[in-house]
Amino acid sequence: MANRAAVILAAGQGTRMQSALPKVLHPVGGRPMIDWSIALAQSVGCDRILVVCSPAGEAVQDHVVELLGPSAVTIQDPPLGTGHAVLTAQDALSDFEGDLVVLCGDVPLIETETLEGLFAEVSSGATVGILGFEAADPGAYGRLITDASGNLEAIVEAKEATPAQLAVSFCNSGVIAASSKDMFDLLGKVTNDNVKGEYYLTDIVELAREAGGTCRTVSCDEAQVMGINTRAQLAAAEAAFQSRKRSQVLASGVTITAPETVYFSYDTDVETDAVIEPNVVFAPGVVVKTGARVRSFSHLEGAIVGAGSVIGPFVRLRPGAELEANVKIGNFVEVKNTTMGTGAQASHLSYLGDGEIGAGANIGAGTIFCNYDGFLKHKTTVGKNAFIGSNSALVAPVTIGDGAFVGSGSVITKDVDANALAVARGRQLQKAGWATAFRDKMAAIKAARKKG
Ligand code: UD1
Ligand code: MG
Repeated sequence: MANRAAVILAAGQGTRMQSALPKVLHPVGGRPMIDWSIALAQSVGCDRILVVCSPAGEAVQDHVVELLGPSAVTIQDPPLGTGHAVLTAQDALSDFEGDLVVLCGDVPLIETETLEGLFAEVSSGATVGILGFEAADPGAYGRLITDASGNLEAIVEAKEATPAQLAVSFCNSGVIAASSKDMFDLLGKVTNDNVKGEYYLTDIVELAREAGGTCRTVSCDEAQVMGINTRAQLAAAEAAFQSRKRSQVLASGVTITAPETVYFSYDTDVETDAVIEPNVVFAPGVVVKTGARVRSFSHLEGAIVGAGSVIGPFVRLRPGAELEANVKIGNFVEVKNTTMGTGAQASHLSYLGDGEIGAGANIGAGTIFCNYDGFLKHKTTVGKNAFIGSNSALVAPVTIGDGAFVGSGSVITKDVDANALAVARGRQLQKAGWATAFRDKMAAIKAARKKG
């Protein structure tokens, strides 16, 4: 296979988003748009990835540097069109030999196989490969003008198109591939002699044909190549992502009772024979292992649900919640940065933060791990098969030994030995007949006041 590189265009302002956050940092499926393009490039083996940024887009630059290092950023100043944008990567790729694909940072949902298909056109002899799609509403997209045998003759921007060309619904997704040498040779010949006065990347198609080359298209469904310019399009892309992910999860052998009510992230990993009940939200970083059940109205992020575990309804798992097999967590329990061993249970109304809970432990209703002193977080350890009585506060740092019992309503501030009972609350006292005497006394006082 030829070496591969990607140039990702992200120098646009994204003004139509009406946002302080740069467009390509808005998330789809829990991941910034630009990360989708980068992950796509990586998934097809691009070992060089360059992101074209505007000088003002510092947040985007910083983000790319964090992901790929400083050499991945090229600056386009001023923005003179998509062809000009790709040329900003020429110096950085001067030592690169292989195939180059241009992606757009605001087109997040292209699938790996689709891009493989495009590279295949280039490696099988096309000078330029274009990813096209049948647009429901071709609007401002560039039109793909093909000859009788399906070869691409030109890409005509909507603003330059004749009425006959505007009637064509086969459109340019903006994704274009060629050998790096052809790409930069052709771009060197592009002029800005057009309606917008810009250097159009799309002009390389006609230039390639004039030089005797062939240009071929690969097509995909519109849902993969929808570009995001507005919040409405962002919502539409989110819907497209959710729909695709739900289908994938169902196809992999997971029951989702009401798929349209379940929201996934790009990386949600649900294993075979898990069951997801209605109205569940998966923020990034969740793994649900085989046979587990996530009951309704639960919210999970950065968490592992062990095989056969049952959580919910109304459970919140926050980052670092790691449940081993057959754990049970019931309604209104929040778990953060806490591991729970096999068969451990917390069935009702608890906060379990910064803890380690041993296998078979039972956390009673209303237990709170008091993990924060206003400055630092501290750890609570509950041993195997320990039993924490309802409405107990475990003030961290604290350790409850294996098999120990904590009496209900305790505020535990000192470690408890294995197999001991700890009770830390006011001792109960009883006064026989006190209530009768109290009522008699108060009734007499009230009667005396009425008379007076
Ligand atoms: C472009 C295509 C059009 C295609 C459409 C698909 C050209 C000339 N036209 O049109 O055929 O149907 O995309 O969405 O290529 N960008 C830069 N620097 C620039 C200009 C643009 O980085 O100087 C980036 C933008 O941020 C964006 C991408 O390139 O990510 C596409 O630019 P945009 O202005 O949206 O191009 P379109 O007019 O939509
Ligand atoms: Mg656009």
